[in-house]
Amino acid sequence: MNTGLAGKAVIITGAGSGIGRASAQHFAREGALVAVADVRLHKAQQTVDLLAAEGHRSIAIEVDVSEPAQVERMVNDTIAAFGRLDVLFNNAATVRVGNAVELTVDDWDIVWRTNVSSVFLGAKYAVPHMPAGSSIISTASLSGLAADAGLISYNATKAAVINLTRTMAVDFGPLGIRVNCICPGVTMTPAMKGFMSDDRLRELVLAATPSARLGEPEDIAKAAVWLASDQAAFVNGQPIVVDGGLTIQNGFSLMQQARGLDPQ
Ligand SMILES: NC(=O)c1ccc[n+]([C@@H]2O[C@H](COP(=O)([O-])OP(=O)(O)OC[C@H]3O[C@@H](n4cnc5c(N)ncnc54)[C@H](O)[C@@H]3O)[C@@H](O)[C@H]2O)c1
Repeated sequence: MNTGLAGKAVIITGAGSGIGRASAQHFAREGALVAVADVRLHKAQQTVDLLAAEGHRSIAIEVDVSEPAQVERMVNDTIAAFGRLDVLFNNAATVRVGNAVELTVDDWDIVWRTNVSSVFLGAKYAVPHMPAGSSIISTASLSGLAADAGLISYNATKAAVINLTRTMAVDFGPLGIRVNCICPGVTMTPAMKGFMSDDRLRELVLAATPSARLGEPEDIAKAAVWLASDQAAFVNGQPIVVDGGLTIQNGFSLMQQARGLDPQ
């Protein structure tokens, strides 16, 4: 696949771990210059070291994506290092557990600033530097398309990312900048691996997933590379679901499967 990404400059937030790190590897393998941005600088540096071991040039940037001045600096540092900016991948996010009664106002604010304001800030500071043919990608979630119990702020923010994506696609389409987001399903990043170590839970998710496996960070990274590439030149404003089919079945189909799983 000719992605057209060789020599292009890419910022990936949350690239010190999981989906962001895998994406940094996949963009770099396409010849892109990657700014590995993360609030944990040592994790960003680890990703840079992994890329260097494969012979790829990248830089580590310490950033809290919820802080306007830090996002502006991230963009400026990338352009200072690479001389251009072609792809912004807003991937960093955070989660706080609780329903509307349980969640503190501070936690509500942190999740909104990290997951949603970050996408607005990224565009605010990056778009003026991005040439026609550039692209913005964000990591949304299945949690932006349907609800999970006790994740009120996470679910609301991921839904907001999806409509921010559409709005920015409308605003920046005439500039030749495409804006899309990815809705990953259960993806085996470090945090999710701990959660899915419960055998019963793993069995349930696998039974509900037509592709009969769990997602890997590489599955999302490949979707991000495709969205940023020339191959997706007419894909704009879309939430792309990458979940092995987890969300395509209705409740009845799942109940039929559950009977097979658990005779009670
Ligand atoms: N893993 C899944 O199953 C799954 C499913 C749906 C959506 N997602 C989304 O995928 C994205 C990546 O998640 P992951 O699973 O790879 O998680 P992860 O924890 O492996 O990586 C997230 C990275 O973001 C960084 N980060 C957190 N807050 C930050 C901030 N304020 N500023 C800068 N960096 C920050 C962390 O340091 C970490 O390195 C997130 O947007 C998440 O909501 C993940």
